[in-house]
Amino acid sequence: MEKNESKILIFGGTGYIGSYMVKASIKLGHPTYVFSRPNSNNTEILDQLRSMGAIVVQGILDDHEKLVSILKEVDVVISVLPYPQVLDQLKIVDAIKVAGNIKRFLPSDFGVEEDRVSPLPPFEAFLEKKRKIRRAIEAANIPYTFVSANCFGAYFVNYLLRPFDHNQEITVYGTGEAKALLNYEEDIGIFTLKVATDPRTENRVVIYRPPGNVITQLELISMWEKKTGKTFERVHIPEEEIVTLSQTLPDPQNIPVSILHSVFIKGATTNFDLGEDDIEASSLYPDLKWTTIDELLDIFLQNPPKSANAAFE
Ligand SMILES: NC(=O)c1ccc[n+]([C@@H]2O[C@H](COP(=O)([O-])OP(=O)(O)OC[C@H]3O[C@@H](n4cnc5c(N)ncnc54)[C@H](OP(=O)(O)O)[C@@H]3O)[C@@H](O)[C@H]2O)c1
Repeated sequence: MEKNESKILIFGGTGYIGSYMVKASIKLGHPTYVFSRPNSNNTEILDQLRSMGAIVVQGILDDHEKLVSILKEVDVVISVLPYPQVLDQLKIVDAIKVAGNIKRFLPSDFGVEEDRVSPLPPFEAFLEKKRKIRRAIEAANIPYTFVSANCFGAYFVNYLLRPFDHNQEITVYGTGEAKALLNYEEDIGIFTLKVATDPRTENRVVIYRPPGNVITQLELISMWEKKTGKTFERVHIPEEEIVTLSQTLPDPQNIPVSILHSVFIKGATTNFDLGEDDIEASSLYPDLKWTTIDELLDIFLQNPPKSANAAFE
């Protein structure tokens, strides 16, 4: 364990990506606080994180006084609250303003670079809420780092390949030729804790775009076929059908199809160039290794990460 003094508070630390963040924070030696609701159902993971050394603080986002007192105990705040709670982060912003001691706030972004994409309307409305939080943080002069982590790797390997289904068919969105970035969640945890405490990333957007983690759906399927020795039938859903679904499905079911369109048809995680002013995480820490997609599929062969469904309501 490295010695590291910054105290880290994580909102949503018992959640899907949150538990990777908490474990990374503990691994890097930070005193790590997990904010969790008193009525949380996530007792098993809470017990696990506690046994690893996390300090669990119970509260609700509406309890401003309690939020302020918890914030006064820590230095850095990471929020990995789910999408339905994105606007609730305004309560964290208000409490950070009053506490006055927070050295860095990372709001719950962790997807496409939301200030540089224009997706279909349902995903646009989703991102607009996340942008609203970014703008509130800037307006309040809170030191921040905004993270574009791109696709959670194990989450999307499970979603696209459905290895747990043992199906002969794999659905391909569009032609399957757009390039997407898949980053393993353990790496997202470690790199997020690195950028959260790095002076170079203060008031900057950091993009997680390791060169070895770019892949198309068709390449991913071929790689999985080689590893498993199986052959899969590729069942394409044409782009027009996905656009129609985004227009006809009720809210919020129209959001996931719009995300698939943006990422796996339009290439939203790879289709803009990074300039000299951009901060890309793998070049920031050249000595830290990213798990490649090939290695991630090996993990799926040995000890498959559980599938998950992000919350949209
Ligand atoms: N890039 C990608 O591929 C990708 C994929 C999925 C998600 N994401 C993003 O990652 C972020 C986190 O999503 P996630 O799926 O990891 O979240 P999650 O697992 O659904 O939830 C995280 C935690 O939030 C807490 N929570 C839920 N409702 C709450 C409420 N009303 N008040 C306070 N806390 C509440 C819960 O903690 P307690 O029960 O302990 O209170 C829960 O464990 C989001 O920004 C999401 O958009 C990105």
